[in-house]
Amino acid sequence: MKAAGLEALRPVPDVPDAFAAELAAAFAGRPGQRFSLVLSGGPTARACYERTAGLAPGSIDWSVVDIYMGDERWVPPDDPDANQRLVREALLEVVGPVGSFRPMPTTGTMPDCVTAYQRTIGELIAGGGPDLVHLGLGPDGHTASLFSGSDALEAGPDQLVVGTTDPNEHNPHLRLSLTLPAIAHARLVVFTVSGPEKREAFEAVRAGVDLPATRVRAGTVRWLVDAEAFGDPVPTGGGDR
Ligand code: 6PG
Repeated sequence: MKAAGLEALRPVPDVPDAFAAELAAAFAGRPGQRFSLVLSGGPTARACYERTAGLAPGSIDWSVVDIYMGDERWVPPDDPDANQRLVREALLEVVGPVGSFRPMPTTGTMPDCVTAYQRTIGELIAGGGPDLVHLGLGPDGHTASLFSGSDALEAGPDQLVVGTTDPNEHNPHLRLSLTLPAIAHARLVVFTVSGPEKREAFEAVRAGVDLPATRVRAGTVRWLVDAEAFGDPVPTGGGDR
């Protein structure tokens, strides 16, 4: 299995900077009036959103940006582990009002939460699909809350959201996640991968090992990977003249 978007890839000097620039460029080139953005959780994501919030004023007109979540831990909205809390703190509270924010519901029963967000994402897809989905890469190769060995990886084309858990028990919490078919509707997926603890997983993705991240497809898939995660030494100078 070959992962998408890895041809002629080179590491980036700073992943959060590269993410902020990628998002600003995608916003500038958006096909419609509005821009739909699907966000994730984790420390790399937090750094990316903080850097994005610090972009020069006017880089992004946040009043036309509709924000969704790609995955969520099934905890109360203000729990320290809630991805929506991370997004509020790192981005929304800094940039001011956005077009809309549609976090994954986590109160009520899991089936009700899944059904409600399935409707939300169904509407997003019916309207043309996400302009940008941001994904991370776990050290075990997971992305969003799609874990190796999970039934969630086998979701059919109409199953856009799942309630799930890590069968390998490396990652805590019941979770909600977009499925691979839902992510595939994105115009652009941006992976951010930073730090030596991601090197093994990234090498496995590059080698085509069947990990959740390897299976991601979208209009375009872009990988922003720093040298520590990348592995191979970067050639400096030399070559043909
Ligand atoms: C989550 C995430 C998850 C994350 C990876 C990598 O809720 O945990 O959405 O899929 O993207 O664990 O996280 P980092 O890139 O921040 O290490």
